[in-house]
Amino acid sequence: MNELKVGVIGIGFIGAAHVEALRRIPGIEVTAIAHSSDQKAKAKGQELGVDRTFGDYRRLLEIKEIHAVHVCTPNHLHYPQTRDALAAGKHVLCEKPLAVTVKEARDLVKRADASGLVTAVHFNIRFYPLLSHIRAMIAGGELGEIYAVHGSYLQDWLFYDTDYNWRLEPEYSGESRAIADIGSHWMDLIEFLTGERIAEVCADFATVHKIRKKPLKPVETFAGKLLKPEDYKEIPIGTEDFATVMLRFKKGARGVFSVSQISAGRKNRLYFEIDGSKRSVAWDSELPSQLWIGRRDGPNELLLRDPSLVHAESRELIDFPGGHNEGFPDTSKQLFKRFYAAVRAGGPGEKPGYPSFGDGLRELELCETILQSNKRRTWLPVGA
Ligand SMILES: NC(=O)c1ccc[n+]([C@@H]2O[C@H](COP(=O)([O-])OP(=O)(O)OC[C@H]3O[C@@H](n4cnc5c(N)ncnc54)[C@H](O)[C@@H]3O)[C@@H](O)[C@H]2O)c1
Repeated sequence: MNELKVGVIGIGFIGAAHVEALRRIPGIEVTAIAHSSDQKAKAKGQELGVDRTFGDYRRLLEIKEIHAVHVCTPNHLHYPQTRDALAAGKHVLCEKPLAVTVKEARDLVKRADASGLVTAVHFNIRFYPLLSHIRAMIAGGELGEIYAVHGSYLQDWLFYDTDYNWRLEPEYSGESRAIADIGSHWMDLIEFLTGERIAEVCADFATVHKIRKKPLKPVETFAGKLLKPEDYKEIPIGTEDFATVMLRFKKGARGVFSVSQISAGRKNRLYFEIDGSKRSVAWDSELPSQLWIGRRDGPNELLLRDPSLVHAESRELIDFPGGHNEGFPDTSKQLFKRFYAAVRAGGPGEKPGYPSFGDGLRELELCETILQSNKRRTWLPVGA
């Protein structure tokens, strides 16, 4: 097997997770990384065991033998870095959101289509095996007609007014925060599982901490201490800590979901229930190896992740036997396996087995409509 060489741009939380997942796939080498400065890139390279490090991602793109690039930087950099990577002839796997505006995302879809290169967005949650099983259940009619879809994506990492991150500044994050950051995963997943499209939305946003305390020194400096007034700057916050969105699907199903970054104790919990005319299903990302199946006229079931108990296509996403838990890092590995199979095959093919740039654009369209709906306090059709 010839080795595929990969460059990763932006080595924060998720960039390091990409490096780790890439190293679990045979025939892939992480050849170089790029970070925000030469010095920081070198330090990250030492931590991760990567020799070629750059403070400017354009130098990484100049390396001829690199086949593919992963873009793992803050949101505002996804557009220019992905555009430049495509121009350099690299296959691109971009983090979500694909860009910060619909206009940018449309441009990337056009460039990707024209290039013939393999391109994907890291909507990794799709790759939990039991979710693939739900998708097959729905496609096979096991749930019947979909009546309703409801759920939430809750986190607590911005619970205190002293919690601070680039995601709080629209210049880096975009105009929406919780919806773009985590609501995008929830909506992508629901459309992917049900095969149904969200046609209309009605949104309500709340900013709990209207002023936050931005540390003036690196956050680690404050670990375990209280911030004193001279340690922070007060920053007005305009993006949503919490949002609720009502949904109408094209075929008539109804839905609602909430996103939150201020829900104490909820570390990173994506939850949904899909109610059909035959059965319901429910799944919680913090207990990813269990699928609840609800019935009206018989006992409910709890299906545990086990290759012998799921539909054939879901079996391909399971690398360990039942009871040997797989989780978040495995979802990226499974997505990357499919992405690099397409790279080896020489192109994306008819039906790519991973989320496309088109799926990234779809999330930005939903997100922009939701922002408008909240501003205008009304229902709005998606894409109008
Ligand atoms: N799919 C998922 O489950 C998932 C999870 C987390 C984050 N993300 C996405 O990944 C992206 C990064 O999020 P994160 O949590 O890793 O953030 P992070 O802040 O931990 O990491 C981003 C890194 O990019 C670096 N950076 C900034 N400017 C750069 C530049 N010009 N060149 C190279 N590096 C630069 C920063 O120094 C930082 O270390 C976001 O867009 C986010 O939405 C996706």
